[in-house]
Amino acid sequence: MAILAANWKMYKTIAEARAWFGAVAGSPLLGRAQVVVFPPLTALCALRDHAGQIALGAQDVAWADEGAFTGMVSAGQLRDAGCRYALVAHSERRRYAGDNDELAARKIAALWRAGLTPVYCVGEDAGERGAGQGPACIRAQVDTVLDALSGVLGGELVIAYEPVWAIGSGAPATPAQAGDAAALIRERVRERCGPQALGHLSLLYGGSTSAASVPGFMAEPLVDGLLVGSASLDPSSFLAMLEVMVDA
Ligand code: PGA
Repeated sequence: MAILAANWKMYKTIAEARAWFGAVAGSPLLGRAQVVVFPPLTALCALRDHAGQIALGAQDVAWADEGAFTGMVSAGQLRDAGCRYALVAHSERRRYAGDNDELAARKIAALWRAGLTPVYCVGEDAGERGAGQGPACIRAQVDTVLDALSGVLGGELVIAYEPVWAIGSGAPATPAQAGDAAALIRERVRERCGPQALGHLSLLYGGSTSAASVPGFMAEPLVDGLLVGSASLDPSSFLAMLEVMVDA
């Protein structure tokens, strides 16, 4: 089943989040794709009992399981709040909060220990792209994490290719670029973890997606779904994307 994931970033009050779920949670389309929503932490508990077929996720997670870590939230606490997924190393956290590949590996391991599915975000920035370093950047981000995990997947793994230059820019990558990135990531996972790991891997594209761009991305055989930012905030624009996705 295809995945349509909504990253709300630092938007929405609890009331706004509830209203969005009120508009989306009853849609008959939900049985035909896996919808995952990453709300702000403040709204998670309020949504848990209204999520229906929508899976909840967190936008970040601590690498430790418990302890004196003021301000952090553990994977077990996220599970307690109803989460099944968490984003790891989104480019905005790499930029503003010091996340890097080494921390990402520790966060992924923590999520697996709690039985949650990590959505690990990779992708090159505009400078790396301009220098022709896009594939090398993706390869390094994936290899560093898989090496730190000793090439062993401790659960399901989602990797989202989100080129930094495409996020929030209104200019998405082309479907072919997303397909090439997906092929490269699969190749790295196969090489580091073995072919059996591919059965536990899903690949997303994210960056300035909208209903108009869904068919092109979903026509790429290695792209399993989309991670959507701004177009996910309005329930009708999100439902329009879902409708196109299940028809694709
Ligand atoms: P965007 O954000 O769809 O607004 O470009 C995507 C993301 O940051 O996950």
